[in-house]
Parts: sequence; structure tokens; C-alpha cells
Amino acid sequence: MTETQKTAIVTGASKGIGAAIALRLAQDGHAVLANYASNEAGANQVINTIRSTGGHAIAVKGDIAEPSCMARLFDVAGKEFGRIDTLVNNAGVMHCTSVSEATDEDFETQCAVNIGGVFRAMREAANRLTEGGAVISMSSSVVGLYQPTYGIYAATKAAVEAMTHVLAKELGPRGITVNAVAPGPVGTDLFMVGKPDAMIESITKANPFGRLGTPEDIAAAVSFLAGPDGRWISGQTLRANGGVI
Ligand SMILES: NC(=O)c1ccc[n+]([C@@H]2O[C@H](COP(=O)([O-])OP(=O)(O)OC[C@H]3O[C@@H](n4cnc5c(N)ncnc54)[C@H](OP(=O)(O)O)[C@@H]3O)[C@@H](O)[C@H]2O)c1
Repeated sequence: MTETQKTAIVTGASKGIGAAIALRLAQDGHAVLANYASNEAGANQVINTIRSTGGHAIAVKGDIAEPSCMARLFDVAGKEFGRIDTLVNNAGVMHCTSVSEATDEDFETQCAVNIGGVFRAMREAANRLTEGGAVISMSSSVVGLYQPTYGIYAATKAAVEAMTHVLAKELGPRGITVNAVAPGPVGTDLFMVGKPDAMIESITKANPFGRLGTPEDIAAAVSFLAGPDGRWISGQTLRANGGVI
């Protein structure tokens, strides 16, 4: 890779939205660190696809809920690429259950991954991102929907949005943009697994476009925010959801 090539860390890039983001940023010219928690085969498929088209990519295992994980990912990326321009906080988990039935574990796991992982990644980015870089974090359109069973998950994503807006003000002086992308329903494992067909159909019909989002729809929004045309967009939550809210 050249000294001027942009580089990105994408958490949770072994499948779904994160895999599409890693592929899209590589297509845009980034060298990519693709993080994953357990799905090594998926992460390897992503980096092999990037390498097969001449790109530079590595896969790094790490549970972002672990306090030491993010510093290690930044260390590896720094050593491999020499610079880090873009952080995409994509990895996330969702456990849908009513507040009355939610366990402490439901609460703690979602907080540890969705807030703890994002906080520590933002801290590393604040200290190590190249001037003019970008931080993009996945929120969710459920933050504004107040639907039953989404209480804890939506609360974690509201926290991501709050940290995004504050960090944008802290990093603006270094030309670093900080934004959130809030997808509506996207046809990935996180959304599809465990839902009856009838529920998926009714959620699909509720969207003005009459379809679910695709990982590539969301990757396109991330590409814009990470790219040259997004340099004056900061402190925003971009609701990429086909107009559902
Ligand atoms: N799908 C939707 O409808 C939707 C809507 C709004 C927002 N979002 C948000 O978009 C993001 C991606 O969702 P998705 O639908 O693509 O999910 P997904 O298909 O379930 O993929 C999740 C990815 O995150 C990784 N991951 C999970 N826990 C991790 C951890 N502790 N440490 C490191 N990586 C971890 C997984 O890695 P392994 O496979 O290795 O476990 C996988 O690569 C999430 O933040 C989600 O909240 C999704």
C-alpha cells in the first residue's frame, strides 16, 4: 500500500452490514481491518474478496465487549497500515424482550457490546485517528420508534447517538467528522433470526418502498460519510431506512 492510502477499521465485519461496509470501503480505496468475534470463515471471505481485487485487508478476531480489545485493534491497524483514517463502529447485538422479562444478562450484554465497545473505540479514535478522518457508528431507527421489546437495545443505540454528537464537537477542530447511521430493518441475521415470516412480511410492508434494506444500502451511506463528499457533515444521525420514520 502507498503512504497516502486511506485505511479503515470496521468492527463486526464477518457478515451482514459490516461485511458490506468493509467491501465498500475497500472498493473506495481504503485498506481495511475487518474485525470479527467468532465467525473467522466469514471474515476471511471478506478479506479474500478484497485481496482478489488488489486491495489490502486483514481480519482480526476480538470481542469488542472486552476492555482491551479496541486498543489492540488500533495497535494492529497502526502497525499494518501506518495510519488510521476511518473507524466504523458496526458490531452490535440485539436481544428483543419486554422490560418486564428482560434479564440482567440481556441488559449487561447489550450495554457491554453496543455502548462499551463503541465508547472504547471512540476513545482510541479520538487519540489516534489521522487529521481529516471519520468516525461512523451504527445506531438504529428503532431509537425513534419506541416499540415494545426494543427498550434495552434502543437505549444502547440512543447512547451511541449521544456520544456521536458530543465527539463531533470534540474532534471537529482536527477536521475529523463523527456521525451515526441509523438503519431501518435490514435483511441480516440480526433482524431475520427468530422472527416469524408473518412478522417479517408486515415489517416489510410498513416501509414506503415495500422492501427491507440491504447491507449495501447502509454501506453506501457509510461510504458517503467516510468519503471526500462527506467532509462537511458531522454530528449527524443519518436515518437510512427508506422513509419508514
Ligand atoms: N439488521 C438490522 O435490521 C439493523 C437495523 C438497525 C441497526 N443495525 C445495526 O447494524 C449493525 C450490524 O448489524 P447486522 O444486522 O449486520 O448484524 P449481524 O448480521 O448479526 O452481524 C453482526 C456482526 O457483528 C459482530 N459482532 C457481534 N458481537 C460482537 C462482539 N462482541 N465483538 C466483535 N464483533 C461482534 C459479528 O461477528 P461474528 O459473526 O464473528 O460473531 C458480526 O460480524 C449492528 O450494530 C446493529 O445493531 C442493524
